[in-house]
Amino acid sequence: MYNGIEKAKALTTKKDAIILAIESSCDETAAAITCGNKVIASAIDSQIEMHRKFGGVVPEVASREHTLAATRVVDEALKQANLSLKDIDAIAVTYGAGLLGSLLVGVSTAKALAYALDLPLIKVNHIEGHICGVYGTHPKLKPPFMAVVASGGHTLLYNVKGYTDYRIMGGTTDDAAGEAFDKVARLLGLPYPGGPEIERRGELGEANINFFKKERHADKDLKLSYSGLKTAVVNYVHNLKQKGEELPINDICASFQKSAVMLLTLAAEEGFKRLGYDKMVLAGGVAANSGLRKSLEETCKKMGATLYCPDKTLCTDNAAMIGLRAYYSLMAGENVADLSLNADSGLL
Ligand code: KG4
Ligand code: ZN
Repeated sequence: MYNGIEKAKALTTKKDAIILAIESSCDETAAAITCGNKVIASAIDSQIEMHRKFGGVVPEVASREHTLAATRVVDEALKQANLSLKDIDAIAVTYGAGLLGSLLVGVSTAKALAYALDLPLIKVNHIEGHICGVYGTHPKLKPPFMAVVASGGHTLLYNVKGYTDYRIMGGTTDDAAGEAFDKVARLLGLPYPGGPEIERRGELGEANINFFKKERHADKDLKLSYSGLKTAVVNYVHNLKQKGEELPINDICASFQKSAVMLLTLAAEEGFKRLGYDKMVLAGGVAANSGLRKSLEETCKKMGATLYCPDKTLCTDNAAMIGLRAYYSLMAGENVADLSLNADSGLL
């Protein structure tokens, strides 16, 4: 007999609830422990080296690596926190969005733990988790705010009205920002993941190539597109190659990054004006990019607002952000799952 759902009801007032969170949506297997809205342990086993030789994430390889690493990261998080499974109040897990096979490893591990320990199981939306990563760095930050989430799989603007109230305002209609960084890096022969590499190479170059004929403003639906920018870079590179000219890799990186940052900044500014808030949050893997942080910081300053970003370690995939999102669910009595929980790869 499983009593997790009943037990969750009794935890809504436990402000220092201890949550063991699991994340396996893409190429990081991670476990973390949170106590209230504080992160007390975070273990990440990255598969980046494994996927690098293929130039990107291979889903089947990712799932297999997750099965090998899942219990290891849970043990490591418990060790870091100096706790045992007996001390845990609830289990949290990312159930979407992400690669189906990868998500299923985390979901199965979390369900097994919840069943064996008879604990509540909290399901977490990965993108909302990214936003909650900011509380790990700014625990006093309170909604409402606008959140810009830029990751490898998503680029979305959110109206965050409360700790458990997330409304999508707009976003990309094609490639995600991180995906565009990764694809351009691959085109230039740079290693996966492309984002950090483009940032590093761009610092050595000049943003002197204009990939846009004119500034691309987000439309009235706050939709933006990264595929046009990616195609502009592809055409530029092919053109030089056809002429047998050497590629100015550092300048291409600097110029691409400048345009990618501008696209998102213009959309963020437009969305932010409509809300009239005084706080903006930047989250997701691409939020680790210093150029993007700086650009949104300047935009916020211009509008009399403040930008909040998670520490860089909380930007790319981790389980601490999943534990933080789950904490607010537990307090609100929402997203409590039963043992039939399934993964949802296209969850928004
Ligand atoms: O959030 P994340 O770890 O995974 C997903 O949920 O997708 O984001 C990974 C993405 C990759 O596309 C990676 O290239 C990008 O974030 N990224 C960056 C930087 N660090 C990671 N993009 C630009 N600049 C960076 N410094
Ligand atoms: Zn992510």
